[in-house]
Amino acid sequence: MKAADIRKKYIDFFVSKGHKEIKSSSLIPDNDPTCLFTTAGMHPLVPYLSGEKHPLGTRLTDFQKCIRTGDIDEVGDPVHLTFFEMLGNWSLGDYFKEDAIRFSFEFLTGKDNLNIPLNMLAFTVFAGDEDAPFDQEAYDLWQSLGVSPDRIAKLPKKDNWWGPAGQTGPCGPDTEMFYWTGGGEAPAVFDPADKRWVEIWNDVFMQYYKNADGKYELSKQKNVDTGMGLERVTAILQGKKSCYETEIFAPVFAEIDAILNRTAPAERTASERIIADHLRAATFIIADGITPGKVDQPYVLRRLIRRAIKNGRNLNIEGNFCARIAKVYIDQLGDVYPELKNNEAKILDELSREEKTFEEALEKGTREFEKLIARVPAHVVKKVISGKNAFFLYETYGFPVELTAEMAAEKGFTVDMEGYKAAYEKHQALSRQGAEQKFKGGLADHSEETAKLHTATHLLQAALRKVLGNHVCQKGSNITAERLRFDFSHEEKMTPEQIAEVQKLVNEAIERKLPVICEEMDLEDAQKSGAMGLFESKYAEKVKVYTMGDVSKEICGGPHANNTGDLEGFRILKEESSSRGVRRIKAVIGKQQ
Ligand code: ALA
Repeated sequence: MKAADIRKKYIDFFVSKGHKEIKSSSLIPDNDPTCLFTTAGMHPLVPYLSGEKHPLGTRLTDFQKCIRTGDIDEVGDPVHLTFFEMLGNWSLGDYFKEDAIRFSFEFLTGKDNLNIPLNMLAFTVFAGDEDAPFDQEAYDLWQSLGVSPDRIAKLPKKDNWWGPAGQTGPCGPDTEMFYWTGGGEAPAVFDPADKRWVEIWNDVFMQYYKNADGKYELSKQKNVDTGMGLERVTAILQGKKSCYETEIFAPVFAEIDAILNRTAPAERTASERIIADHLRAATFIIADGITPGKVDQPYVLRRLIRRAIKNGRNLNIEGNFCARIAKVYIDQLGDVYPELKNNEAKILDELSREEKTFEEALEKGTREFEKLIARVPAHVVKKVISGKNAFFLYETYGFPVELTAEMAAEKGFTVDMEGYKAAYEKHQALSRQGAEQKFKGGLADHSEETAKLHTATHLLQAALRKVLGNHVCQKGSNITAERLRFDFSHEEKMTPEQIAEVQKLVNEAIERKLPVICEEMDLEDAQKSGAMGLFESKYAEKVKVYTMGDVSKEICGGPHANNTGDLEGFRILKEESSSRGVRRIKAVIGKQQ
């Protein structure tokens, strides 16, 4: 079965069980300062898992594009990916364990579904600890469907518990489904330590809420959150050892062969896998509005592209190739993810531009790197590139430190990462540490304060459009309890007068104490009503439109303040460049001193 068939079967199956299909959200989390990228299907649904009403109801299903950068250095081996698609189904306070497990069982084993023989499957359930009891119910349910108790392992929290992704939030025990990849008949007794059993699906029963004291309270709304990695399940069902051996990556490998003017080799190398993975991720990230830059998502994007280019050189690819690879993905997945087609020119252009910039630096930087290496006598046992030198390579030649580390490792060197960080912070007064924390994941905060800041971004966007023009549109938003950060399309630095004018307009809207009105309507009606909808592709057919008097009308998931007066005041702290063609504003609300 091909990935496209599995994707379709999954959605059709859950739609037949009363679920509404929702579209994949952007890879860039809206309003979650703790995460740079969407890391799981549940991520964009956090407000709804926390009790907010979803316009499409209580049963949802989708395939969600995700990026996980935690294992980025492992990419190159046969299993790791940064970009992947996650299939998922959700119950928002609707069905719970019984139906969730029945649905999973039917989808895995059903003749018209994945049709996996039951004797190829094994299961895990939560064993229980001081925070929550053994999941007897899940254990019994699997058995009621014909699973032998020998094929159900009881495992502790570190294996069978999911979330919260941040410090607090919805979480709970999960039950995971495993497939036997060892060939022949699967062992009668399931040993979860045997790596030939591979996890293919995870059903999370979100019945707890971890509070700020670290205590697990029973949650008001019981949810189901499931996730199945499409690439992995495709490989497994095709009997392939690696997702890189499936049709998902075949066209890109064929393109690499074409670029190198060769016939397909018997085996793919780590460099080829890195190119295939990293440029797939980069293609999708650019489609979601990010361009290469120095911090946060733009930095990750740059790092992905540059590592791909470096590996292209390892393969002796000469000249530009990134756009050719991206084009293959756009053609392959453009129907499933229309944002790829809609942004085709931009994706190809950004990749070529980054490739050109890096190309020039790569040559000079590599020479410099070699000089650094040569300075260390051969007999030195612990060969280290100092943090200062790694920073020099970054600052002068744009070498992401991870790339320097990789090149260093090839020569038996390490990089003093701590020293690098210190040098970076000293020179840039930017916290890389802070950015790295964001990879660790987190749930959006939905306190009153962030709701107010969210409302402030709508007013800010409306004011910016008034002052700068209608080309202004949201490129990103990041809210912490203390401040908002808003990225928007605009070429030039704003003048002090423009900044003052925008601030004044927002404060006027606050002083007018406008009620914030939320209406649910069809996407089409919302568009007809003139509401701004900036990330259209992520919205379900029914959407919420927030109106603030005659100032702002925007499609948005919320939550918001009830009245603009609740914001009390608005002050712009900073206006700066975010990436090419994108400006960034940081602002606070509250009574001004
Ligand atoms: N959120 C769960 C996961 O990512 C389903 O595994």
